[in-house]
Amino acid sequence: MAKVCMIGLGKTGLEIARYMVNSDKLDLVMAVASPGSSKLGKDLGELLNTRDTGIKVTGGDSLADNLKLFKPDVAVDFTDPKASVKNLEVLAKHKVNTVICTTGFTELQIQRIRAITLANKVGTVIAPNITVGVNVLRFVCEIISGILDDYDVEIIESHHRHKKDSPSATALKIADSILKGQRLEGKKNLVVLDRNITGMRRDKEIGVHAVRAGGIVGIHKVLFVSEEDKLEITHESFNRSIFAKGVEKAINFIIGKKGVYDMDDVLDFKTALESYVLRQAEVN
Ligand SMILES: NC(=O)c1ccc[n+]([C@@H]2O[C@H](COP(=O)([O-])OP(=O)(O)OC[C@H]3O[C@@H](n4cnc5c(N)ncnc54)[C@H](OP(=O)(O)O)[C@@H]3O)[C@@H](O)[C@H]2O)c1
Repeated sequence: MAKVCMIGLGKTGLEIARYMVNSDKLDLVMAVASPGSSKLGKDLGELLNTRDTGIKVTGGDSLADNLKLFKPDVAVDFTDPKASVKNLEVLAKHKVNTVICTTGFTELQIQRIRAITLANKVGTVIAPNITVGVNVLRFVCEIISGILDDYDVEIIESHHRHKKDSPSATALKIADSILKGQRLEGKKNLVVLDRNITGMRRDKEIGVHAVRAGGIVGIHKVLFVSEEDKLEITHESFNRSIFAKGVEKAINFIIGKKGVYDMDDVLDFKTALESYVLRQAEVN
């Protein structure tokens, strides 16, 4: 059973920790809060409003010492970009593979994550959206955009009022996948955020719009629109426990691996596509 270190005990991290505490497939051995957090020293059960778990919350500043003590196989990070990179430096040095779920990294920080992973010969999954359904939506959009390549595409994402980054990293990844599907990979100037200019939309432009309101867990809607019809694909997360299912898949994937991976690797879309092509070949 994988021994897991959970880093970041905020809104989402606590829900993931709750899932792990109740799981008979994952063994949660560490729960890490920010240095100086009011959660330090408490039993994780107290934060989850459940029975004692025997797991005492430790601080990000004593990560190295506790990794030596509890020897987790994998760490899961739901913190913030700066803390996440700092945590990875320590985890990689101690040969602990990591699933990074934190979002909002700059391109430079992503490069740093890659460099730390490769230099220390460990494995890292970078998963700006860990939800299986959203990743399937992104994959499907890539395929559709290759077929409906003259349709206008708009992405609308909605999240709770506390979300710090905007638009969501997931919406931008969906836009990247659509560009890829249209063989316009890397043409980021076609992605227009919260359109606020006067003038007509350009061909191939992808509009991305962010709604921030109340307690919405996460909605991603993609519109493919022509003069004659509209195809609309929506994914909605009802609660944060959906994240735990993706985290479990990513943990099981990254154990024993070296290198940098994303959710496409975890969910193995390539094999799904290959078996579709094989099935079609059999039918014909
Ligand atoms: N990939 C996905 O599918 C997905 C899903 C949901 C959220 N996220 C992302 O995950 C991150 C966290 O989201 P959230 O909604 O849980 O935010 P949040 O409620 O603000 O939680 C962030 C937590 O990080 C902790 N933290 C900060 N520095 C730390 C450190 N050095 N060591 C350990 N913990 C540290 C803070 O701990 P204290 O409370 O102890 O100060 C805080 O509780 C965000 O980037 C969010 O966008 C990703």
